[in-house]
Amino acid sequence: GKNGIVHHHLTDSTNTRARDLARDGAPEGTLVVAEAQSAGRGRKGRSWLARPGEGLLFSLVLRPDMEPSRAALITLMTAVSVAEALINETGINARIKWPNDILVGGKKLAGILTEMSMELDAVDYVITGLGLNVNTPAKAFSPEITDIATSVMAESASAFSRVALLQAILSRFETHYQTLTTRGPETILARWKELSDIVGRRVRVSMMREEIEGQVTDIDADGVLLVQTEAGDALRILSGDVTYLDP
Ligand code: BTN
Repeated sequence: GKNGIVHHHLTDSTNTRARDLARDGAPEGTLVVAEAQSAGRGRKGRSWLARPGEGLLFSLVLRPDMEPSRAALITLMTAVSVAEALINETGINARIKWPNDILVGGKKLAGILTEMSMELDAVDYVITGLGLNVNTPAKAFSPEITDIATSVMAESASAFSRVALLQAILSRFETHYQTLTTRGPETILARWKELSDIVGRRVRVSMMREEIEGQVTDIDADGVLLVQTEAGDALRILSGDVTYLDP
């Protein structure tokens, strides 16, 4: 379509920029890209740090015609698009960790921040933002995070074109988004399950007020994580941090 692309050398947060554009009526498909962010945001009030020019930092404005309760599917769909693009373009064995992390060998390569705004009971807009570590040298990760974070370059020992990766991600995103909005979530859920490998695993989930342990039985049609506790309770987890209890 005839969508705008906004490129910043430095901005506060591409999610915040995209949100402001959406509030001013920007159409679906508007893309905000930055080389660097001064206030990059992660989930749960965390920050997202990336050295200038090394990462892929972008946010997309979407206006899906869907129930607000289904908006989590956008996050899953973004994760699938990113994992597939990485596998195809770089050969990295990328995996998805519910709900929004892209990992390789247990280390985080990318994170997704999805933010939704509603008007009455309908979705007004959704902003989906991606932070992907691309050309960050392995030695640039500080000792505190070197065991938990990585980059495409650190995993593959070569530099990659960020533009090529962006194109690969967006082209997959477009296909999956079409399928999701016209035919429903089955395809994306099946693909997500393949790439996440979480179903059947024992997990600990840390939520705002409590922590639970159990076995993942499935994710439902809205992208909600279903966990069976030892005590036999079936829980529906909308948001939380997952730790795998077995290797
Ligand atoms: C997470 O892992 O908690 C999500 C991280 C999302 C970071 C990206 S970087 C581009 C976009 N703009 C932001 O401020 N956040 C997202």
